[in-house]
Amino acid sequence: MLIKNVVSNLMQSGGKRIRPLFVLAFNKLCSNSIPEDLNIIAASIEYIHTATLLHDDVIDNSDSRRGKSTAQKLWGSKASVLVGDFLLSTAFKWLVSSNNSEILKIVSETSVAISRGEIKQLVSKLDFNSHTYYDVIRSKTAVLFAASCEIGAVAGGANYEQRCAAYEFGLNFGIAFQIIDDIMDYVGTETGKPSGADFMNSRITLPLILAYQE
Ligand code: IPE
Ligand code: IPE
Ligand code: MG
Ligand code: MG
Repeated sequence: MLIKNVVSNLMQSGGKRIRPLFVLAFNKLCSNSIPEDLNIIAASIEYIHTATLLHDDVIDNSDSRRGKSTAQKLWGSKASVLVGDFLLSTAFKWLVSSNNSEILKIVSETSVAISRGEIKQLVSKLDFNSHTYYDVIRSKTAVLFAASCEIGAVAGGANYEQRCAAYEFGLNFGIAFQIIDDIMDYVGTETGKPSGADFMNSRITLPLILAYQE
């Protein structure tokens, strides 16, 4: 019941679902046939993303996401972390059942990188070095976009060059995506998330780094 409530609170409030879309789009770019398991692979990427959001809202002490109260606000941090773990484990269970060791390897490495990025961000408070910032956003955000594109390409039978190009596209898209998210936190664009939260939580992001350099 708790799992159902927490998951539907987040899933039913939408989300852009860009990462699974990239899996499908890059598969289509590389192949005319859709592998049987592609939907489950794409869904597991969205599950991993959702798990990172549940964990991230605990770390950031965020009260709203997608225009609604977060799970950690409604059910507490313990429930949010545990349901995040449940989604992460379910995603890996699905990936194992799809029996593609290449894709499993990409996602496992990505999962490690995301955790590393969040940990680095946690220990880099008040670090105004832009190299630290780029390192953090590459790991916490961009690698999942890169993996989504690469997985789609791999499932579509891409050659090595195509696979690298897909990864590079996703990585650069993800870096730009997080920079825009960090700008929106200052500009106050309507995102369904509280604005000004980064500054209030002493999180040093690119707008502040550039302002400080001036
Ligand atoms: C939010 O990602 C986390 C960041 C990387 C900034 P999205 O903006 O893709 O989240 P949803 O799924 O659309 O809500
Ligand atoms: C986004 O972290 C990356 C992950 C969720 C791993 P942020 O803390 O910058 O993203 P929002 O603004 O809460 O979505
Ligand atoms: Mg956050
Ligand atoms: Mg965060």
